[in-house]
Amino acid sequence: MHLERSFLTEISNLQHKNMNKLNDKVAVITGGNSGIGYATAAKMKEEGATVIITGRDHGRVSQAAIDLGVTGIVSDVNDLDSIDKLVAEVENKFGKIDILFVNAGIFQPAPVGQTTVAMFDHQMGTNFKGAIFTIEKFLPILNDGASIINLSSINAYTGMPNTAIYAASKAALNSYTRTAATELAPRKIRVNSVNPGPTFTPIFNKTGMPEEQLNEFAGAMQNRIPLKRFGQPEDIANLVSFLASDDASFITGSEYNIDGGINLNPILN
Ligand SMILES: NC(=O)c1ccc[n+]([C@@H]2O[C@H](COP(=O)([O-])OP(=O)(O)OC[C@H]3O[C@@H](n4cnc5c(N)ncnc54)[C@H](OP(=O)(O)O)[C@@H]3O)[C@@H](O)[C@H]2O)c1
Repeated sequence: MHLERSFLTEISNLQHKNMNKLNDKVAVITGGNSGIGYATAAKMKEEGATVIITGRDHGRVSQAAIDLGVTGIVSDVNDLDSIDKLVAEVENKFGKIDILFVNAGIFQPAPVGQTTVAMFDHQMGTNFKGAIFTIEKFLPILNDGASIINLSSINAYTGMPNTAIYAASKAALNSYTRTAATELAPRKIRVNSVNPGPTFTPIFNKTGMPEEQLNEFAGAMQNRIPLKRFGQPEDIANLVSFLASDDASFITGSEYNIDGGINLNPILN
């Protein structure tokens, strides 16, 4: 009877340990008030991490932070001073961090020939420059053995119409991922990219495309995905949380497509 009880306690401890893979880790998630960042904040918190989310708007960041039960800090990745302030505030309140999820991003579709300088600067500024300087500025307060996960896109590899600059911003980010993984390896800091396919988040509604056009796009896209569905933010959150955990301790410089198979062979669809 006594033996049985200690066996059960052991099993429950193991289960608990498994559910808390991110115990004692501090995670910063840029753009954590919405979509994939929000779902990842929820997942990392569930797995035991102390989570800090960021975003540009005070109201949206504080509401999400309250809903998630995490810390919210307003910070714009397009503004390098704002990233400096974020790093200083995180260091002040939490010391060094273990997980950096570089997730903040925007999508502004436009056909080749209609790229404006403003659109170029905004997309490259957020998705590439903003991502890179987030990493550069957080490096001094990353613990050795930390995990950096860059949220890229399968668009880095596709020639999907209207995505030229968006796709280039993500391809550039993936290139940085590889070099950073090599250079940061002596500190055992792992750097990986995650390339989602179409995922149900508010990002599409922010493009300014009319609802009818959005629905048409979503229908056509879903039809091309071998698994016949869009990704959910939670699908991406599961992969990101795995890469953040010690279970992924031998993974660095890699990229993971998570896209229902859309990148397999679109020609056949
Ligand atoms: N959804 C997809 O199909 C898909 C596919 C592949 C890749 N992705 C990538 O996934 C990432 C997350 O996007 P999502 O789909 O979850 O869209 P989302 O719901 O629109 O979330 C984007 C997040 O980024 C934040 N953000 C945007 N610009 C920012 C800035 N300058 N500074 C700080 N935060 C900023 C947004 O916050 P505020 O705007 O409130 O400040 C928001 O929290 C992006 O990098 C996107 O490119 C998405």
